[in-house]
Amino acid sequence: MTDEIDRLIDAARAASAHAHAPYSRFAVGAALLMADGGIVTGANVENASYGLSLCAETVAVATASAQGRIAQIVAVGVIGGAMDADGRATGHRPVSPCGRCRQVLNEAAQMAGIDLPVHCGAAEGDAVASYALSQLLPDAFGPADLGIV
Ligand code: THU
Repeated sequence: MTDEIDRLIDAARAASAHAHAPYSRFAVGAALLMADGGIVTGANVENASYGLSLCAETVAVATASAQGRIAQIVAVGVIGGAMDADGRATGHRPVSPCGRCRQVLNEAAQMAGIDLPVHCGAAEGDAVASYALSQLLPDAFGPADLGIV
């Protein structure tokens, strides 16, 4: 792993410890590398009304946006896995963003004018699958279609 990927996966793992996922017991953490080198994180936030649950990547992007930095996201790391009895994510299989999160990430990517690197890691171990967002969401609809960028 490169230092950048390592850093993002480590931060995503740390963020997953704060997942509120008592229903699925599947903890996800997301980490966003910002243009200034800082990292913004998020974890999934489930709701007793299940359909209202928020994914980790969406929470992270919303946090960056709330800081006025939606256009400063330069790379993404995500990990996830079934929670053990202590609430820690487990498993060696890389997790990739759901369809809705891909669209949310695309908003940030187009605002930044980049094809966002997305590093999909596992809760445990070294497996990482790296993509450009355009591979995960080809021909995306986004701000460019509305003349915003
Ligand atoms: N989840 C995420 O946080 N991100 C994804 O990209 C996929 C799914 C969450 C939603 C739910 O809280 C749990 O994982 C199981 O679906």
